[in-house]
Amino acid sequence: MLQAVEGTQLSVDTSKQHLAPFVKWAGGKTSLLPELLPHVPHRLTSYYEPFLGGGALFFGICARTTSFSAHLSDTNEELINAYRVIKESPDELISFLSRFQKEYDSAPDQSAYFYQKRDWRHTGRVESAARLIFLNKTCYNGLYRVNSKGEFNVPFGRYKNPRILNSDVISAASHVLENTKAELRTIDYKDALTSCGRADFVYLDPPYQPPTKTSSFTDYTPGGFSEKDQEELAEEFGKLVDRGCIVVLSNSETSLTRHLYNDFEIRKVTVNRPINSVGAGRTGYKELIVLGRTR
Ligand SMILES: C[S@@+](CC[C@H](N)C(=O)[O-])C[C@H]1O[C@@H](n2cnc3c(N)ncnc32)[C@H](O)[C@@H]1O
Repeated sequence: MLQAVEGTQLSVDTSKQHLAPFVKWAGGKTSLLPELLPHVPHRLTSYYEPFLGGGALFFGICARTTSFSAHLSDTNEELINAYRVIKESPDELISFLSRFQKEYDSAPDQSAYFYQKRDWRHTGRVESAARLIFLNKTCYNGLYRVNSKGEFNVPFGRYKNPRILNSDVISAASHVLENTKAELRTIDYKDALTSCGRADFVYLDPPYQPPTKTSSFTDYTPGGFSEKDQEELAEEFGKLVDRGCIVVLSNSETSLTRHLYNDFEIRKVTVNRPINSVGAGRTGYKELIVLGRTR
């Protein structure tokens, strides 16, 4: 944000310029921000985002204000650990990533370096966060996928000059997580929502209901998100609205999602979705934004 005070020079708030997800995430909402932000009230007290992923909407709101308390959660433990480390120990994380960047850039075989980091069994929380970010920046399509043992198994991405360290983004994220006193939990979305009530704002961005059987976006954690989960989520959406929460949900546009949110105001938008295993399916997906108002 630029602030001009009469008789003084323009001062630039650099931290806000860098407010963006620190990981590329499947289903990330950066491109949908212009459609989502207008539905977020300007006066926020409590903000709940229980399918956090890269947190595009959270960071988008923080560019506007940080005068609210944030309740952020996801079932992905490594991801939530990375948020905690960014909040509490950004400098330590930056020094790990700086080392990884140098080692990667000078590695004679970058693919071998990637697989060595992928196999790395570390013990520390900062190491875990640095590894997650390193793998996210260098693996195929920035995907997060684990095998049945919970081991990250996405192959090498062959990027030319991946930016492993972006200290501005990490510092800006750390700042707003601190300012909003962000509560960061590894928890199922239903448990995360038990405490929210009247006038609290809730943004729900679940793993997508796949538009077709071949384009599944549900490989975030073992288990995925089934049709039954989508139905339960729609019930939860209704309960939150009845409790007086202000709820916004995004999902892919399918016959099931249209049916599930039939009682609510639905906006249809077209987005370019950056992560999809099927190349031909990269653009022009229809998405739903559902607005929860008292029925
Ligand atoms: C579509 S992504 C969210 C993307 C995010 N809005 C962004 O901008 O990056 C869905 C997230 O839900 C998480 N998730 C899946 N099942 C969950 C559950 N039952 N409870 C909470 N989080 C869950 C996944 O780990 C994933 O990070």
